[in-house]
Parts: sequence; structure tokens; C-alpha cells
Amino acid sequence: MAYILVAIAIVSALIFYSRLRSSPYPLPPGPTKLPLVENLFQIPRGGFIWLDYAELCRKYKSDIIHLSALGNSIIILNSSKTVGDLLEKRSSLYSSRPPTVMLGELMGWGSTLIFRPNDDSWKAQRRIINQAIPPTDPKRFHPKQLSATHDLLRVLPYSDNVMKSLQVWAAAFIMDVTYGLDPEEAKPYLPTAMAALESMSIAGTPGAFYVDQIPILKYVPEWVPGADFQRKAREWSDLRVKMTETAFSVTKERMAMGTATPSLTLAALEQMDRTQNLASQEEVIKKASVTAYGGGSDTIVAALGSFILNMLMNPEIQTKAHEQLEKVLGPGDLPSFSDEPLLPYITAIAQEALRHNPVTPLAFPHALTQDDVYEGYFLPKGSIIMPNVWSILHDEEQYPEPDLFKPSRFLGVDGKINPKVKDPATAAFGFGRRACPGKHIALASLWIAVASILTCYSIEPELDEHGKPVKPKAEWYPGPTLFNHPLPFKCRFVPRSKDVQTSLGVTLI
Ligand code: HEM
Repeated sequence: MAYILVAIAIVSALIFYSRLRSSPYPLPPGPTKLPLVENLFQIPRGGFIWLDYAELCRKYKSDIIHLSALGNSIIILNSSKTVGDLLEKRSSLYSSRPPTVMLGELMGWGSTLIFRPNDDSWKAQRRIINQAIPPTDPKRFHPKQLSATHDLLRVLPYSDNVMKSLQVWAAAFIMDVTYGLDPEEAKPYLPTAMAALESMSIAGTPGAFYVDQIPILKYVPEWVPGADFQRKAREWSDLRVKMTETAFSVTKERMAMGTATPSLTLAALEQMDRTQNLASQEEVIKKASVTAYGGGSDTIVAALGSFILNMLMNPEIQTKAHEQLEKVLGPGDLPSFSDEPLLPYITAIAQEALRHNPVTPLAFPHALTQDDVYEGYFLPKGSIIMPNVWSILHDEEQYPEPDLFKPSRFLGVDGKINPKVKDPATAAFGFGRRACPGKHIALASLWIAVASILTCYSIEPELDEHGKPVKPKAEWYPGPTLFNHPLPFKCRFVPRSKDVQTSLGVTLI
């Protein structure tokens, strides 16, 4: 194994440096590259890697830094300027994805929208999502979002594991948006879908499998000692296939019977070009739909988990939110989307939940498809580009005291949303042609959930055996991960009034 590593390191370094010699420009600053191993031991691997990257940028006094190892060239963009200049303004060069062996090749996710390079298949899948959930028609899913939120309100007070309850709820909700299956109908499909997403998140964790660093290992057969990753890849690929096929075929059957309810998959099936090959169009729809399901569920869980945890830690913010809700809503009223302009403090809380602990602090890696030069630096073709969303959303100039959870930063003196403060959604959902196509669904779902939870409940610490509140700990999954979410925590959802319970049809007090 060691020989293979050394051989790969030598060949990769030789190829990389022969290309560098042809450029008159230096690479961006970064840690000194050691012979052969280059930056192998300086590439952050564990814990909150976005903080490590931010620290490296501080150390090398640059918002763009370069690291390399084993033939991979990695560029970190640490400010909204570098991200805007490259991922937005030069989007045509910076919108591909780096290949992944475990997830992409062995498990088969590489053909789906989020992992696909920017080729025709990616464009076709992206078009399907854009047509089926167009940002120009944000109300299309409001009825589903409202009814899912009311389901969540009924579950929360009985939950002894908020993060788990959010996960089950979000999986069912996104199943409805994607395939038109209501929570009861979705139940049989959820275990497979949730297991497939979990396998994706394990395999997508940087450094989790050696085969991603040493691609030649993909040829080692499953029976060879130490090649257990092959068995996992096979089983996880089976989960992907099952998740992709089953719910899709239900929607298709229902469409044929005329009983399908609105969904992303139904809209895409209805928009197929009947003069062209239907089977190949269906294949594209399946891949787009399964990616929307994958992209939408755990992200919403993380954002809502962050909101709930921050309410628990900041009771004074809850009090302010309750005051505004009481002024706007009548007794027993549950919020609706049309209330949003009258509830700017709620909007500010949702924005702060996305900013304070961004769900995807490094967005998702982009890949550069052509050699480029930026501010006098050479950026080699094939580089993995990591936009540091966490740094952008913790920029002290934009967001003073960035580590504080402070919704009021988004409000002007008139108490309304201040357009001069940058909306965190401009970074939290990624960049350029790869920016999240589900952003408007995510924002609306987050807003209505925040408004409704705060209308119905006061989020309070759990009580010990003497009835004393237990001081909550705010702990976040330490990774390694590209995906930022709170660790499981305990809290109580204490009903605020009998009237809203009547509206929900439940009895809690
Ligand atoms: C709080 C919730 C969400 C967050 C924070 C989020 C964030 C992101 C980010 C950072 C990316 C990568 C952008 C880039 O590469 O620059 C992305 C991609 C994507 N998201 Fe979301 N997302 C959320 C919800 C959703 C929802 C609800 C859906 C679908 C209904 C969705 C579907 C997708 C898809 C399909 C992609 C892949 C786009 C591509 O590679 O071209 N996301 N999302």
C-alpha cells in the first residue's frame, strides 16, 4: 500500500509541476509544499474544517489560498469578493464538480444532478428541476408546506429527540414535494430513502474512504482483505437504486390513473416531449427527482435544528418574537405566508439561523474546467474550488459580532428588514450556475416553520428530577463533514395558548 501511495504521489506531483512550469504566474499563497507529499498533512480533515480553512487564509493573509496533494489541487475562496469574481462572474469556468470515486463511481451517485460535471446530462436534469419548481411560482407548494408545518407542530411537544423528529418529518415532507406522496403514503418508502441519504453523507465525508485519494483501489475485488469498502459501495448502490425507482414508479402509476397530486416528478412527467424518446426522458427525471429529495431533506433539518437550539439558548429573542406575533395574529390564528411582510422579526430569525451556523459551510465543491488567472495567480484546470460560506457569513464588516445569534442585525430603525444588510441566502445556497435550485422552497419552508413554532410554543430547557431547568448545551456535530448540524439535544415545547391548539385540533394543556 505504501509503495502505491509513493508512486501515485510522484506521478501526480510530476504532472502537476510540469503544468505549472508552463505558467508565468505563481499559485495563490498557502502552506509550503513538501517534496512528494506536498500539503498532504496540512489539508484539514477532521472537525469544523471551514474554521481551519479560514485560519489558513488568515495565516497567509489572503482570501484565496492553494493546497495540493496526491494530484489534487485545492483552492479555498474565503470572501464574497473572490467567490463573486470567480464562481459568479466566471461561472462558465467554475461550475463543474470534482469526480468522487466512492460516492460517484462505486455507489453510482455520480450520474445525478448534484455530483454531475457540467455536461449535457447535468443541464437536462437542472432544466427539469427549474421547470418543475420554478422560483417564479413560489406559491405552488405553499399548501403542502402549510399542512406539513401543522403536522410538525403536532409532533414536537411529544418528541424526546428533536433532531430525529425533524429528520422523519422533513423526509416525509420532501417526499410529498418530490413525489406527491402524503406522509402516510410515504411511510413505507422512508426507511430506504433515509438509509440511502445516510450512506451518501458517510461516503461524501472528506477522507472517509482511501479509494477517493487512491482511485486505483477501485479495482481491488471485494474479497481482498481490507476491501470492505467494495461491499459497502455495493449495498449502498442498491439503496440508491431502490430509492430512485420505487417512489418514482408510484407517481408514474398515479399519473396514468389520474390520481397523482402536484409534485416535482409529476410536473416533470407532464412536461415530457411526447415526440421524443420517453424512456430516456424518464431516466433524466428519476435522477433529477432523487437529487431534489436528497438535497432537500437533511438541509432543512439542519436549518430548523439550528433555529430551535438558538431559541433555547436565547429566551429574550423568543420573547420579542412572541410579542410581534401577538400584535399581528388574532387569538388562535396560525401564521400563513401572507403574514410575512408584517412579521419582519420572524424573517430576521430565519435569516440569522441560516447565517449563524450555515448548513453547508463550504457549500459544495466546484471544479475549474480551464486554466485561469486571477489577481496575478495561476489557477490550474481541474482544481477543486471550496467557497468558504462560513467565512462570508461571519465577515465582521457585514455582520458585526458575527458569533452572536442576533436577528436584530437584519432590521432597520423602523423595525423592518434593512435591505442594506446582505441577505445570508446570497451565500447559504451556493453560487453561480450551481446555486441551489430548491432555495425558494427551503426559504419558504423555514419561514413558515419558524413563525408557526413560535406562535404555538415557548421553547424551554428540559427539567431535572427536582423540576429545575437543565442548562442546555449548544453542541454541533464535530465532523469530519461538509454538512453542519446540531448534535441531538433536549428541550420542551410548552404550548402558549389553548386557542392555537383548537386550530391545530390537539389538546396539550
Ligand atoms: C436550508 C435548505 C437548503 C440549503 C442550505 C441548501 C444548500 C445548497 C447548496 C449550498 C448547494 C450547492 C451549491 C453550489 O454548488 O454552489 C445546493 C445544491 C442543490 N440543492 Fe439545495 N439547499 C437546501 C434545500 C434544498 C431543497 C429544498 C431542494 C429541493 C427541493 C434542494 C435541491 C438542491 C439540488 C438539486 C442541488 C444541486 C444543484 C446542482 O448541482 O446544480 N436544496 N443546495
